[in-house]
Order: sequence, then C-alpha cells, then structure tokens
Amino acid sequence: MLKINYHGHACFGLSSGKYEILIDPFINGNPLARVKAEELNPTHILVTHGHGDHLGDTLEIAKRTDALVIAPNELAKYCGMKGVKNHPMHIGGSYRFDFGRVKLTPAWHGSAVINDNEIIYTGTPCGFVVEIDGKYVYHAGDTGLFSDMKLISAAFSLDCALLPIGDNFVMGPEDAVLAAEMLQAKITVPMHYNTFPVIKQDPQKFIELLEKKGLKGKVLEPEEYLEL
Ligand code: NI
Ligand code: MN
Repeated sequence: MLKINYHGHACFGLSSGKYEILIDPFINGNPLARVKAEELNPTHILVTHGHGDHLGDTLEIAKRTDALVIAPNELAKYCGMKGVKNHPMHIGGSYRFDFGRVKLTPAWHGSAVINDNEIIYTGTPCGFVVEIDGKYVYHAGDTGLFSDMKLISAAFSLDCALLPIGDNFVMGPEDAVLAAEMLQAKITVPMHYNTFPVIKQDPQKFIELLEKKGLKGKVLEPEEYLEL
C-alpha cells in the first residue's frame, strides 16, 4: 500500500514501507507545517526547482539522512556542490531507481536559489511522475496550465495528481480543474495554497469544481494522508 502524506505547501511524502520519498521539503520555514524537518527520514528527496519554498530543507535533511537528491541537472549539481548525494535528470527523461521509476515532466515556471545578495539560476523547473508500489503519482511542481498535460495521461494511468491551486505564481483553481480534466487521475489533491497571504484559496471550492466535472478530489490538511 502506498501512503501519501501531506506535509504542507508542495511537500509530500510517498511511503511504500521500505522507501520514503520526500518531494519539495519546505518544512521549517512553512508557518503551516506541523512537523520539523529534523523528524523526517527520507531515503530519496525529489526537488522540482530551486525556489526556497521547494528546495526548502533539502540540503539539511539529505546531509543528515544520506538521502539521494533527484532533481533537474543544474539543481542536482548545485546540491552536489553543497555536499549531498544527487542524481541529475532532465525533462522527458525517466530512470528506474530501487524504489521505482521517476519521469521528469515540464513545468512553466522559473528556478533559482535566491540568497540575500544573489540569484543563482538552477535551470528549468520540472514536475514528476513517480511510479512506486505499482501506483503512479504526478506532482506538477510549480506551473501554469499547459496542454501537454494530455501527454502525461496518454503515457500513464495516474492514480493521484498533486496540483497547485494558489494562483499568482502558479495555476489558480479554475486552471487546475482544466489540468485535472486533462490528467484524469483517480484522485486529485490540491497544493501550494494558503501558506502565504498572496496564495490564499478555498480548497473545498476547488473540490466542488472538480466534482462538477465528474472528477474526484480530496483536501489534505498538513500531516493528513491518503492511502492508495
Ligand atoms: Ni516556485
Ligand atoms: Mn512555489
């Protein structure tokens, strides 16, 4: 059984028992998080892009747990320069790891590590299709709507889609419903909302919009989980 644990914002844990995959671990800076980064013990960390609300606590967690960081090439190399084990990939590519397969999908967004006085660009952002425990989970990353999402559902029968709904930086709820219609996942979970005032949304309204289209959705509160 695959457990999908929501840690808030765009951070999810996919756990199959033996393996613990953590995606976009922005924990200690997230005002809505209910765990501490120190409490998470992933075997692998998937990072969609370099922005602080996604790269988050990746370096600290990877150093402590020796987790393998899987990310777009430039971002993976950045993590390598900071001393963590990494596996660079890029959009359109897939690779079979010990836990299952990962494919990088496009995301319309930016990617940079932004420090006090400098911006370090870290290539192109991505989304992930993760195959684990016989299930297919799509994490869209930060992105606007794009019609090539149809190609994702043509290639994979998705069990779960994790879609941003926060608007401003990413899709808003209406666009996310159009995305969900293209993806046709068995269940859609909203993410990337309410963490900051500028991305405030009512996730239940998003679920109602999905249901009007005959799609199933579920809101997860931080530390709530779903079993597939
Ligand atoms: Ni971003
Ligand atoms: Mn973001």
